[in-house]
Amino acid sequence: MTISKNNSPIGFFDSGVGGLTVLKEVKKLLPNEDFIYFGDTLHVPYGDKTKEQLLLYSQNILKFFEEKGCKAVVMACNTTSSTIYEDIKDTYNFKLYPVVQSVAKILARIDIKRLGIFATKATINSRAYEKEISKYNDEMQVFGQYCPQWVNIVENNLTSTSESIKIIKSDLDKMLKNTPQKIVLGCTHYPYLMPILTKFAPKDLFIDPAKHLALFVKDDLEKSGLIKDNNTENFEDFYVSSGPDKFKKSAKTFYEIKDSVKIISFG
Ligand code: DGL
Repeated sequence: MTISKNNSPIGFFDSGVGGLTVLKEVKKLLPNEDFIYFGDTLHVPYGDKTKEQLLLYSQNILKFFEEKGCKAVVMACNTTSSTIYEDIKDTYNFKLYPVVQSVAKILARIDIKRLGIFATKATINSRAYEKEISKYNDEMQVFGQYCPQWVNIVENNLTSTSESIKIIKSDLDKMLKNTPQKIVLGCTHYPYLMPILTKFAPKDLFIDPAKHLALFVKDDLEKSGLIKDNNTENFEDFYVSSGPDKFKKSAKTFYEIKDSVKIISFG
């Protein structure tokens, strides 16, 4: 039996639990779709890896989604979107949605002059946000800052320790010296830290690109005739490359995973 492409699943990947912040938003807009999520927990954090490593990890993951017959894959990771997306974007026969490139136009249209970006070291060093935003708006000043410990805080479920709060406050204070009018959470792990960030700054200072990315994905799938038929059952599957129980536990504040998380390695 051949399955029509529009009824095929949508893949998501990230280094760990971060991409669940994107899956959650996409699911709100497209509740009828099937989802396959992969968290590369064996290699987290991605932000400290070389471009060669990130390319290899991403190629293995995208091959896995190809074998699963996905109609689309959301690169729910700013780090791979910033560093290796351009190298692989024409390689696959499914739709590929990188977070940075998919939301840059929307960010560029916000009526402000000073935009902060919190992201990983690899994302900041790539200057991908600056480059993408300047395609649509060359008057916006972008202040990138990397937050070396934030991903580990989220992955290790340390969001309520006083040490974590101290680290996050200190990084935020440093950013606030640039007097940004908005700050993009340019790593999909960072929305987990909103309860801490909003202790020290107003909620509307922060932009989580996930909502914008979700709208972009929905709109593009609709235009491409790739929305799933309504009268079919749906599923969501979760895979990691290491520590499925830890993944489920760390995910919990953002995403309740009901079924078991499967472990898979790419040799
Ligand atoms: N959540 C990813 C991102 O958006 C990766 C973070 C990491 O593993 O360093 O960049």
